[in-house]
Amino acid sequence: MSISIAEVNESAKSALLAISSATDLAALKLVKIEHLGDKSGLSKASQALGKIAAEEKAAFGKVVGAAKAEVSAAYEARVKVLETERDARVLIEERVDVSLPASNIPKGGLHPLTILTNEISDLFIGLGYRVAEGPELEAEWLNFDALNIPADHPARTMQDTFFIEPLDSKLVLRTHTSPVQIRTMLENQPPIYVICPGRTYRADELDATHTPVFSQVEGLVIDRGITMADLKGTLDYFAQSIFGPDVITRLRPSFFPFTEPSAEVDFFFNGRWIEWGGCGMVNPKVLEVCGIDTSEFSGFAFGMGLERTLMVRHGITDMHDIVEGDIRFTRSFGLGIK
Ligand code: PHE
Repeated sequence: MSISIAEVNESAKSALLAISSATDLAALKLVKIEHLGDKSGLSKASQALGKIAAEEKAAFGKVVGAAKAEVSAAYEARVKVLETERDARVLIEERVDVSLPASNIPKGGLHPLTILTNEISDLFIGLGYRVAEGPELEAEWLNFDALNIPADHPARTMQDTFFIEPLDSKLVLRTHTSPVQIRTMLENQPPIYVICPGRTYRADELDATHTPVFSQVEGLVIDRGITMADLKGTLDYFAQSIFGPDVITRLRPSFFPFTEPSAEVDFFFNGRWIEWGGCGMVNPKVLEVCGIDTSEFSGFAFGMGLERTLMVRHGITDMHDIVEGDIRFTRSFGLGIK
């Protein structure tokens, strides 16, 4: 292979032209492969040096060396120019405007009913109670029969209770949290101290004060020597913790098939008596159904509506606010996440 000085100069010239016309680093990389790579004119000229007659070698070598040095220098210079251009462009294109408002990713939060449920659970756990739960789809026997609610009791009629088809499934949407009392007594030996918060269902229309899906909290204590005084003291403590230290409670005679005697519990708040829930001494018939020795043990139970508790405590006048889940309402109670 032979090569002339003119060809070397020609290769160098076209390399320099290509280098100066490359407008970005990617294009320059291709130029480098073509004009400085193994197959480029300049590389071929270097390879040809070996076969050149000795007397011409020095002169030709000088020309080739100078051409390569010039092209390499031009290449390096062009790299610097294009890198500087690129850096300047990236700084502009990728600029972050730190004055823009930050995107606010909502954390989520607890519904006020959940916050209240946690508050009540914590309160009773502090008294040594356990939290017990049961299913919302409940056996009719646990929701009614075991609680001494007879088949002809008005609470069982179609108007109140959501029965589950087929009707011989003997399942209902629990109408109160009291079946959790039965479940607890069937599964545990006294002494029993439980609090049972949960969702309950009754065939009511949704209006300002009613909702077909509501929440209750049930309390159950079975131990030796439990009396109505223990019930009253527990209710006082409960009411004062929820509504304020000055709140007092009163019991009004009432009737529930599963407590005997039974009472309604009211509390005095903002200058008036407010009905809070039902309570009483657990009916011995119920204890017997659960296999508890009534000569040794007695107990009390109470049940309150949580929506009502929340409405009174926070002055909420419309039940819709509690059930609709509008975060502008729930947010005013805080996130409830500790
Ligand atoms: N379960 C009753 C109700 O839903 C409330 C209650 C609970 C009454 C415990 C007495 C004892 O109305």
